[in-house]
Amino acid sequence: MATPIPDEVGMLYDALIDSASVTMGKNLHFGYWESPDSDLSFDEATDLLTDLLTERLHVGPDSRLLDVGCGVGTPGVRIARLSGAEVTGISVSKEQVERANALARSQTSACRAEFHQANAMELPFPDASFDAVVALESMIHMPDRGQVLREIRRVLRPGGRLALTDFHERTPLPPAHRAVVDVMLKDLMSTMVQVDDYPRLLRTAGFQFTEMRDISEETLRRTFQTLTERAAEMPTEVLDKLDWKSDPKDMIDVAGFGYLLVVAERPRADDRS
Ligand SMILES: C[S@@+](CC[C@H](N)C(=O)[O-])C[C@H]1O[C@@H](n2cnc3c(N)ncnc32)[C@H](O)[C@@H]1O
Repeated sequence: MATPIPDEVGMLYDALIDSASVTMGKNLHFGYWESPDSDLSFDEATDLLTDLLTERLHVGPDSRLLDVGCGVGTPGVRIARLSGAEVTGISVSKEQVERANALARSQTSACRAEFHQANAMELPFPDASFDAVVALESMIHMPDRGQVLREIRRVLRPGGRLALTDFHERTPLPPAHRAVVDVMLKDLMSTMVQVDDYPRLLRTAGFQFTEMRDISEETLRRTFQTLTERAAEMPTEVLDKLDWKSDPKDMIDVAGFGYLLVVAERPRADDRS
């Protein structure tokens, strides 16, 4: 899998700004359904995933939260609105940051959220300036997850929490499935981790590991089914312009591909910068 280049990822999301709002909707991440018969719509299920991460961050009106890879601002604005926290979001996509700030401006003044174009590999914030960090499906695009985790630890205060989601290989992929996954990862300029990478990555970056949950069953099948239906409704000229080689339909039955929820804390006794 090729290493993603942040500027190119930013250009990809700039180019996707309208088509992604048709396929993915307002959140650019997978949905979460507690059971196969849950009747949540796709939009509700993607909001639920935001809420599952937020509740693990223990944030309230006195908290400052960083959203790493903020998309068009839907998760950050939701967190600001529902928790009262002051939210700062970053994305490498200029277009996304403009949409995210427009969304923030459309809220009441009680909703404190602002968004900037920045690269998570070099966070433009002082040490210990946030109480919590959320990274919803943005680690998939990072050239070096270890570097981003070190940066996140640096900007978190001791005792501050991180919640993220990421793609992982949950069981070894047979060659036919590996080929399907590789095509999707290439189109998305992303990579996945191995099932046991996170405990080591977090420890090395100076985090205390709190929770790791494989939420593939709750997220993948219905998201890929929804994307398959929505892709079928996209105008051909939009699809031709994207020139993607992958098809969400091919991912529906790839059991070895997985989706992870990870929570960690910067140790309270850690006052290193
Ligand atoms: C799959 S989208 C998720 C967006 C948002 N978290 C959401 O859930 O709606 C991935 C996001 O990560 C951002 N991203 C990718 N690489 C990045 C980097 N190196 N630095 C900052 N943001 C990055 C993209 O621009 C995009 O906003």
